[in-house]
Amino acid sequence: MTTVDLETQKQANAEIMAEIERLKKERNAVLLVHNYQLPEVQDVADFLGDSLGLSRQAAATDADVIVFCGVHFMAQTAKLLSPDKLVLMPDLHAGCPMADMITAEQLRAFKAEHPGVPVVAYVNTTAEVKAESDICCTSANSVEVVKSLEEDTVIFVPDQYLAQWTQQQVPEKKIIPYPGFCPVHVRIAPDSILAAKQEHPEAVVIVHPECPPDVTQLADLVASTSGMVKFVRQTDAKEVIVGTEVGMIYRLQRENPAITYYPIEVAVCANMKKTTLPKVLESLSNLQYPIEVAPDIADRARRAVERMAQIGR
Ligand code: 13P
Ligand code: SF4
Repeated sequence: MTTVDLETQKQANAEIMAEIERLKKERNAVLLVHNYQLPEVQDVADFLGDSLGLSRQAAATDADVIVFCGVHFMAQTAKLLSPDKLVLMPDLHAGCPMADMITAEQLRAFKAEHPGVPVVAYVNTTAEVKAESDICCTSANSVEVVKSLEEDTVIFVPDQYLAQWTQQQVPEKKIIPYPGFCPVHVRIAPDSILAAKQEHPEAVVIVHPECPPDVTQLADLVASTSGMVKFVRQTDAKEVIVGTEVGMIYRLQRENPAITYYPIEVAVCANMKKTTLPKVLESLSNLQYPIEVAPDIADRARRAVERMAQIGR
């Protein structure tokens, strides 16, 4: 873009943002935004966070309308926790391919192979899968959730890598992983981390636990996106290599602009980029697109999410 184009774009965004602010008041709406969203969408957030933080906000808000800027399972979880509120997604096609790697039927078949074993469902699942599960977790609390269960053996769906990382932290239990994965985080190769480290030998490496073990073992810190935010707020490091979705860089820069961040450029979640500022405005103007969950599924799925919410209180 030329400087003139950039200025025009900035001006257009400023007008849209002002209109979003006006409509937020008129509708008594709150904007919950995930850390991987586009910078200009992060800028209009009432709350910016990870899956766990956003679900807590959804449960606690007094707003009548929640506009969820993230991916489908996140908005669905918000609806489970706030069934009486209008929960909107600006783009209904923003899904999570990992969440779609297991259906309720596939989970029932997996459970039948391991009778009596409780199921921990990563929050990156559909409501139907949550409804078949005993408890949910996020990448911020998977260790606490697994530890909280009485049983020695647990099923963990759908992310095999979060399951493996959690297993390393909780060796006293046996975790049976389902073979799902995040197509974005598996693109982060150990070679990319090693090359970045060679180029920036002083840099600290932080990665998300959705990365495979050959990547997590190279990291100084393995953390959820909120764990990364906490880390950069208190570290003395001057340079940080960031092994997660590239949108995180904008968030981290906001938290600590004194640090130089090195992204792994291939890690782009196209679904997280589907929500744009004009779509957020349309969503608020036309109250589109509402998230609904069938009541019988919602009641069972909510139990698993609420059981997670009791942990770490
Ligand atoms: P966080 O809960 O760490 O924000 O992760 C969500 C996610 O989808 C990571 O890919
Ligand atoms: Fe799903 Fe991976 Fe995108 Fe997160 S980054 S929303 S797990 S596809």
